[in-house]
Amino acid sequence: MKSAVILISGGGSNMRALAEARTGLDIRAVVSNVPEAKGLEWARSQGIATQVVDHRKFPDRESFDAALLQAIGNPDYLLLAGFMRILTAGFIERFERRMLNIHPSLLPAFTGLHTHRRALEAGVKVHGCTVHFVTRELDNGPIVIQGVVPVLPGDTEEKLSARVLETEHRIYPQAARWLAQGRLRFTPRGTVEVADAAPRMEPLLSPAEER
Ligand code: GRF
Repeated sequence: MKSAVILISGGGSNMRALAEARTGLDIRAVVSNVPEAKGLEWARSQGIATQVVDHRKFPDRESFDAALLQAIGNPDYLLLAGFMRILTAGFIERFERRMLNIHPSLLPAFTGLHTHRRALEAGVKVHGCTVHFVTRELDNGPIVIQGVVPVLPGDTEEKLSARVLETEHRIYPQAARWLAQGRLRFTPRGTVEVADAAPRMEPLLSPAEER
């Protein structure tokens, strides 16, 4: 069985979805850069090994990343799940094509922070989330799967983010399962295809069209 370590900084609901989903990856440990991260408690309650590498205790990114690497050990894969630190190029190279992240927008729209607020401000009618491989360019690596979430009248940042989060909990385990099955293929263009995945044919119109 291939192994994975999950990196978190907060609530850890995606971590939980990954751990509960039986993706075929052996979750070796959960590592957080925030000692108070709520997700750590849940991981411990499940008997998953946890470690904290508090970024505030390091003078620069290089020394933090070195300590992080040590805590992580040598798993096959790294899964970033609400991990809110930017990693150094050296670290990313080490896990090239072996590190996934989940981002709460339909990339390449809304990279960075406050994605739900920005989606509402932009007036987009569909929003969502993306699982992608991590490359040196922030929130810009090859896309594995995206979940589309309609923006509804009266949506607030809280309502929309809660709706997107539910979809995150579906797409991340799915991506991890494909990873475990060895079905993610890099194309010569640098994009990712899922071998033998069922295509989704119907377009999603939002608001719904009237006939
Ligand atoms: C998620 O929306 C994730 O996409 C974003 O931060 C949130 C973390 O949620 N980067 P959780 O810690 O997995 O509950």
